[in-house]
Amino acid sequence: MKNVLVIGSTGQIGSELTMKIRRMIPEGNVVAGYIKGAEPKGELLESGPSAEADVCDGERLLGIVKKYKIDTIYNLAALLSAVAEKRPQLAWHIQIDGLMNILEIARENGCAVFTPSSIGSFGPETPRVNTPQDTIQRPRSMYGCTKVATELLSDYYFHKYGVDTRSVRFPGLISNVTLPGGGTTDYAVEIYYAAVKGEEFVCPIAPGTFMDMMYMPDALKAAVDIMNADPSKLVHRNSFNIASMSFDPEILRAKISEHIPGFRMRYEVDPVRQAIAESWPDKMDDTCAREEWDWRPSYDLEGMTADMISALRKKLL
Ligand code: SER
Repeated sequence: MKNVLVIGSTGQIGSELTMKIRRMIPEGNVVAGYIKGAEPKGELLESGPSAEADVCDGERLLGIVKKYKIDTIYNLAALLSAVAEKRPQLAWHIQIDGLMNILEIARENGCAVFTPSSIGSFGPETPRVNTPQDTIQRPRSMYGCTKVATELLSDYYFHKYGVDTRSVRFPGLISNVTLPGGGTTDYAVEIYYAAVKGEEFVCPIAPGTFMDMMYMPDALKAAVDIMNADPSKLVHRNSFNIASMSFDPEILRAKISEHIPGFRMRYEVDPVRQAIAESWPDKMDDTCAREEWDWRPSYDLEGMTADMISALRKKLL
């Protein structure tokens, strides 16, 4: 990994991943790819090259890959689950037509490609607890359909053309830098903002609904480590279960209350998000990632909560 294109560099994952990779390889070109209306600003803009990189515009992507001699593409362009339910055709266009553009460019130019999958690639028939690496994937959401297709297409390009595709199935990601937009797991980010601001939180997910979650520093570590892993040890490629914590809204509320006594939360369940959440695993088994590329998370719920609250106090108060 020397010259890297991060597509979606101003999004929830991209904004932090681009900066992490720039710090890792200061001698390389780490291009912050963006779409119109979501241009990089501040440190992201000033610390390296940036380029308009719409996954649906293959010609422009090819130009960037050639100009910067890109060897690794992080493809983070996606509509999250709740938004994808509102605009299913657009979600498919971005997530799958866009991916095809990237895989073709990667095949012709020898790039490695990381396109994340998700807990959303599973569905109601999937075993919920200790969800195995290889299991039933019959999602009911459009987001999930695109993630299963992403895994299959990425593996197809590896087996048929030798394109070095690898990825992970991200849990819900929690960070204090860039907000997610339109996901089912967003509540677990928004709750911290409300708590630190001293506001009551209105939770759209019902008590008792468990989902895998992860603190952003661990997610970034996974995204980098999988691409740097020794390929001879990889039995799987697209995509690895990774896990660090699983909770429902009540457990999260109780944990935050230990740090912010008097924090208040009530429920107004959103039926779209709730149906999606109920179809996702409670807790994935990440043994394959641990065995094949030494995956180990650093944060548990307490570590993440302490860090989130301290970072948000600095940011918001
Ligand atoms: N966080 C995503 C969502 O909720 C799942 O990967 O849509």
